[in-house]
Amino acid sequence: MTKPRVFVSRKIPPNGIEVVARHCDVEVWPGDGPPSRPELLRKIAGCDGVLSLLSDRMDAEAMDAAGANLKVISNFAVGFNNVDVDEANRRGIHVGNTPDVLTDATADVAVALLLAATRRLKEGIDQVRTGQWQTWDPNGFLGGDLKGKTLGIVGMGRIGLETARRLAAGWQMDVVYTSRTNKPDADGQLGARRVTIDELLAQSDFISIHADLNPTTENLFAADAFEKMKSSAVLINTARGGLIDQDALVGALRDGQIRAAGLDVTSPEPLSMDHPLVGLPNCTIVPHIGSATHQARHDMAEIAAANLVAGVHGDPLRCEVGSVA
Ligand code: NAP
Ligand code: GLV
Repeated sequence: MTKPRVFVSRKIPPNGIEVVARHCDVEVWPGDGPPSRPELLRKIAGCDGVLSLLSDRMDAEAMDAAGANLKVISNFAVGFNNVDVDEANRRGIHVGNTPDVLTDATADVAVALLLAATRRLKEGIDQVRTGQWQTWDPNGFLGGDLKGKTLGIVGMGRIGLETARRLAAGWQMDVVYTSRTNKPDADGQLGARRVTIDELLAQSDFISIHADLNPTTENLFAADAFEKMKSSAVLINTARGGLIDQDALVGALRDGQIRAAGLDVTSPEPLSMDHPLVGLPNCTIVPHIGSATHQARHDMAEIAAANLVAGVHGDPLRCEVGSVA
């Protein structure tokens, strides 16, 4: 019997490839970077399944290019803003993602960025690396304190809750949050309070963004939001770059409207070297490493492979987003 044909758009950890290869006729993109758009469209033509990365735009054009055989798009990420889920479901195509297994890893990076931005690690590292640091200075590199301050979580989902848990337990922070729905776990376990976005902006000393990128969150942090924040506030984003209007962020950081920012995600990725955010001393940027632990990536590969194999065989996905009627 012929095996289903699938395309895997990057070299994911071998445990995932092994499972896919056992059940499918698989082609894995050999490059270290993503396939170009024309390459992606060419490679997925006639496939029963695609294992995509967050950098692959899986929209109607891609589904047209794949053709009528396509049964599943298995995204190697929990975020799925790169996939047009409604369009896929309309066509009977299932969409999978990889939740939970990267929650702790990503929450750890949010906390790491919060500490780095607040305690000015980027400036310090740069000065040491370039030989500018001369001596211990009683007034040098002064940053903010964390204990007992107010943390605002935008999007109290899985990663938002784990980030809040760490900062409430470790630094006794008060937690406020926004979400579309009530979060009894956060309220009960952390004494967190659901507030409006304006209340969160005004009250928070630290804001950590964890909402998915969707039409209600795109550019949520624009000039008017920065105007409402404390001038001592620190903004962390490990969700998606599209939640922040980056030009407005440049202005807010330059003008002292907020103290600092720590970003694991930007738009685009990477930013060009001459983008103003890259050069600002109070903006710490790391290369989208939220889920980059050995364990998290291993487990993501396992789930993404399971989703792909299930989808091409018409079985229920282990983790599905949306629903096919
Ligand atoms: P999740 O559990 O679905 O959490 C997302 C939360 O966002 C939900 O609680 C949702 O609220 C909330 N939300 C959506 N729209 C909102 C709005 N307009 N205002 C306030 N809250 C809103 O997902 P997760 O597993 O925590 O992941 C969150 C995101 O992190 C992913 O979508 C992805 O973009 C990003 N991520 C990044 C990395 C990285 O490497 N940096 C790694 C993993 C994930 P409701 O629950 O009330 O609907
Ligand atoms: C990473 O950004 C993810 O969404 O898994």
